[in-house]
Amino acid sequence: MTDRIIPIVDARQSLPVPAPRPRPAGPVRDTLGRGLRDLRISVTDRCNFRCTYCMPKEVFGPDYAFLPRSDVLSFEEITRLARVFKDHGIAKIRLTGGEPLLRRNLERLVEMLANLGGLDLTLTTNGSLLSRKARALADAGLNRVTVSLDALDDPTFKAMNDVDFPVEKVLEGIGAAADAGLAPIKINMVVKRGVNEHAVLPMARHFRGTGHVVRFIEFMDVGASNGWRMDDVVPSADIVRMIDAEAPLAAADPNHEGEVAERWRYRDGSGEIGVISSVTQAFCRSCNRARISTEGRLYTCLFATAGYDLRALMRGGADDAALGEAIARIWSVRGDRYSEIRTAETAKLRKIEMSYIGG
Ligand code: GTP
Ligand code: 5AD
Ligand code: SF4
Ligand code: SF4
Repeated sequence: MTDRIIPIVDARQSLPVPAPRPRPAGPVRDTLGRGLRDLRISVTDRCNFRCTYCMPKEVFGPDYAFLPRSDVLSFEEITRLARVFKDHGIAKIRLTGGEPLLRRNLERLVEMLANLGGLDLTLTTNGSLLSRKARALADAGLNRVTVSLDALDDPTFKAMNDVDFPVEKVLEGIGAAADAGLAPIKINMVVKRGVNEHAVLPMARHFRGTGHVVRFIEFMDVGASNGWRMDDVVPSADIVRMIDAEAPLAAADPNHEGEVAERWRYRDGSGEIGVISSVTQAFCRSCNRARISTEGRLYTCLFATAGYDLRALMRGGADDAALGEAIARIWSVRGDRYSEIRTAETAKLRKIEMSYIGG
């Protein structure tokens, strides 16, 4: 183990829920005037991959202490939270992990959430189990999926997932998702300098004209174990330039306020790509995302060091009104803007891990 790797259990701390105080009527706003639109729910902290930038084997080895089952929110608890969040105006739920498809009977949760109605219901997966699950997920009411895929050649992909998982199986999963109607499908590619930069153009070429949207993500300093350095980041502007030189691009408007990816469409009408530039062009100003961890902590930033223990409130007997009030209070004191204030020093903080909060 290298000395830069910090044990992360300490980062899963819980913050006291802020005391009640009068709030103006209407949708809840944080201290920077940002509303609450997206809810990301992690359904497991486990994953069958060991992506070197997310769950390096030196940290997430055979002895790693994942959450015990009793700590994990049940489907009923997740659905209850989702309902209360919906009453506070969220429009989208994204299920994440770890790898969410490792959670048994996930389609049952999807069905319960779909029954809440009126939400964009989606999921981010590594695609490894998708060919088996896509149909059941779609039948249960999932609207679409995002699949992570970091290269189209096996040597590079396997070096990144670090469990010898072949590209072909992920492509089969994407095909099954498309057949099941889980579209538009987005493909997330984390770009790390010197590791998979060479895979950018093949990726863009492969998915151009398919209707699927590849999004190139700048490697981020999430968590405390991926050894992030600014030198490893390939700025999105370079990616756009690279693709544009081969297939001319034009900037496209966001689909909705606060969209994470910046959209670029091919000028010849053959589709679009996205870039997610958390490092070189922070998008905190419009950040309307709340995250719930597998054990029911509410995090108001991907780079938080602690979260609010909603599970304790629920299991302590709080009714929906009290839960809703707690959520509104937490959001109203939020001032997070980590990506805007990132430095080499903040990158070393003991933040929660990506695999715990799901990106
Ligand atoms: P859609 O546009 O609705 O498909 O959703 P999305 O962009 O939220 O989907 P996805 O989960 O695929 O997000 C893409 C990636 O962007 C995540 O995996 C993270 O790497 C990054 N990301 C998402 N939200 C945030 C955020 O609030 N802050 C930062 N810094 N990065 C984020
Ligand atoms: N930087 C950027 N993106 C990351 N992801 C995981 N770790 C990182 C990181 N350090 C991405 C995954 C997946 C999503 C959940 O987050 O590739 O697409
Ligand atoms: Fe890789 Fe996603 Fe698993 Fe992290 S959670 S190791 S990014 S597949
Ligand atoms: Fe939102 Fe935090 Fe990401 Fe900024 S760094 S966009 S506040 S989650």
